[in-house]
Amino acid sequence: MKEKLEQIYKEAKEQIEKIDMTQGLNDLKVKYLGKKGELTEILKGMGKLSPEERPKLGSIVNEIRDSIVEAIETKEKELKQKELNKKLEKEKIDVTLPATKITRGSKHPINRVIEEIQDLFVSMGYDVISGPELETDEFCFERLNLPKGHPARDMQDSFYITNEYLLRTQTSAVQARTMLDYGGNKPIRMICTGKTYRREDDATHSHQFNQVEGLVIDEKDKNVSLSDLKGTLEIFVRKMLGEKTELRFRPSYFPFTEPSYEVDVSCFKCGGKGCNLCKQTGWIELLGAGIVHPNVLKMNGYDPEKYGGFAFGTGIDRLAMFKYGITDMRYLYTNDVRFLKQFDRFEK
Ligand code: PHE
Repeated sequence: MKEKLEQIYKEAKEQIEKIDMTQGLNDLKVKYLGKKGELTEILKGMGKLSPEERPKLGSIVNEIRDSIVEAIETKEKELKQKELNKKLEKEKIDVTLPATKITRGSKHPINRVIEEIQDLFVSMGYDVISGPELETDEFCFERLNLPKGHPARDMQDSFYITNEYLLRTQTSAVQARTMLDYGGNKPIRMICTGKTYRREDDATHSHQFNQVEGLVIDEKDKNVSLSDLKGTLEIFVRKMLGEKTELRFRPSYFPFTEPSYEVDVSCFKCGGKGCNLCKQTGWIELLGAGIVHPNVLKMNGYDPEKYGGFAFGTGIDRLAMFKYGITDMRYLYTNDVRFLKQFDRFEK
């Protein structure tokens, strides 16, 4: 019996030694240690032995069993390590290779300015309202006190699509829409930012550009005077172009405001002394503004006896050019990445 056990042990060791894959090792485990394995068979047959022989043989069987288990475990570790080494060898990564460059986009300067304007006015309690770019003659002109044939229509060379539809030439179209929406009996404080279109194309004008429009309507004695307009524009312009910016109101003409003003800002480049940007005048023309014309209030549902207000508008592209020192408006639309990338540095 003892010899048989030694024989089994010898055989097992030899076989374990030869194995070179973990799968084969599992088969050997079953063969020697499993329920029907050779050692188990011997243990089962121990009943036939005399009481003195039984413990002796039992301890030999256990010893052999332990040795086989140990041999298998050692082999298992060895094989696992071998397989890992092989894998590492095959899947070698060259950590010195330069990584693929991930290029990140950045916000367009126009969008930066739009967001800044919206944040400012929202903080002052304004609603941000949008309107259609394909506008009707009615909202773009007629409801703004510009009937058909009115000479002031020539101020804005328009892209007509049909007799009735055109690409809006000004965000002022949204003034009329908002007044009608608000129903003639509620105060309004709104800005609208958006694309506008005119038949122009040179270094300072583009056929498509962006405007911001502001409209404030309330009962006549409630902060809707010219001085409120002035204060509002001061906050706006100083936030955008610097705290030292001064405003100058020049009488002007817009059909939808009376009185109307063109608003100049002190040149932020030379501080008002005169330079090439302000053409030696110290001032730069920036906004249109005025007190809403009674006809516009009436046509859009507000009683001019009871309600009053002010409106203002300006080109966002011009603001962006001033803010970032951009010399040609067309840079804003050609979307050359080399140009756009320069604004990465303003990323918060
Ligand atoms: N809509 C005018 C323009 O495009 C600007 C403006 C807006 C003037 C509001 C007065 C009031 O030139």
